[in-house]
Amino acid sequence: MSVDTVDWNTLERLRSEFLAAKGKTGVYWTSPSDLAHYHRFFAARIGWKWDAALAQAQQVGWKLQSRRLLDWGCGSGIATLRLLETFGTDCLDEVILWDHSTIACEFAKDAILERHPQLTVSIANPNSLESLEDTICVISHVLNELSLDDRAELTELSRSAKQVFWVEPGSHLSSRLLLDQREALLGQHDPIAPCVCVQKCPMRDEDNLRHWCHFFAKTPIEVFMDGDWARFAQIMEIDLRSLPYSFICMDAKSLESAPQLDGHSRVLGRPRQFKGYSKVFSCDSNGLNDYELQKRDAKSLWKSIKKGKEGSLYKWTEIVSGRIRSGQSADEDFSASSL
Ligand SMILES: C[S@@+](CC[C@H](N)C(=O)[O-])C[C@H]1O[C@@H](n2cnc3c(N)ncnc32)[C@H](O)[C@@H]1O
Repeated sequence: MSVDTVDWNTLERLRSEFLAAKGKTGVYWTSPSDLAHYHRFFAARIGWKWDAALAQAQQVGWKLQSRRLLDWGCGSGIATLRLLETFGTDCLDEVILWDHSTIACEFAKDAILERHPQLTVSIANPNSLESLEDTICVISHVLNELSLDDRAELTELSRSAKQVFWVEPGSHLSSRLLLDQREALLGQHDPIAPCVCVQKCPMRDEDNLRHWCHFFAKTPIEVFMDGDWARFAQIMEIDLRSLPYSFICMDAKSLESAPQLDGHSRVLGRPRQFKGYSKVFSCDSNGLNDYELQKRDAKSLWKSIKKGKEGSLYKWTEIVSGRIRSGQSADEDFSASSL
């Protein structure tokens, strides 16, 4: 089902639901039209975040290695659609959808089958969701809608998955909730991205509680020339240029797929620009550090970080007194290595 004439009231109602969500939201989808509207706007933005998160995971060599995919809290199915767009359907036997809204499950099933008619897509029986052997658990934008009990159940479920790919909004709260999931998965799973090491996350240290792990995706240029998107931005008071997201990609330890990222660092958020230098918030096995990067010390690195074109993975080769003297983007590095 597509949207011919946009009903702005529907979108405003949904937006209010999302903003009010503080755990245990209950079912708010009232009709397939709600989902069609969601899919046209809100889910499209989430889809661009998925594309960015998947690209970050692929950059370090991550692959889909599960025969089944479970999309938990599927909504209109955008997470599955973006994952299938990236990896195709050949490696999958089955897609399973779960959402406490039956209307959402049906909508997502139709949307996925419309794009991939050859796929086996089913709606889960919640009682049979006990173990996720050979399954990738895909989760997107749900944490702030769950009660503590639901969250704990989802943690248990994802612990049994072979692979977990989880994208949340890049807000402080959602990112922090996602961090709890990362720590809960660490016993059975290796972090693939965005983490560059398996240690306890430095965000948990008392001094770092004000920070959060997040990145920014890019909005496609066409969106800025589309009248409906302009109206959407105005009515919803959403800045279309800003697409913050948080994510974790983790594989069961048995897959032995953890990338070797010794010496690498992840640049979090957006580097802050000043006259002649940038401030870079960097995460690696030494913890979180706010480094200064002077244009005159490393011009091409400074330019690359300023434009944000090379992703968020870097290798600092010289740091003196909190100042990055030299370094390179991971793409330059990986092109010369076996990763
Ligand atoms: C903001 S939407 C996100 C939908 C989709 N994952 C996406 O990224 O576009 C949150 C979804 O989680 C579902 N949800 C909320 N609480 C749930 C629960 N306890 N069990 C299953 N689904 C739930 C909602 O029905 C809704 O479809």
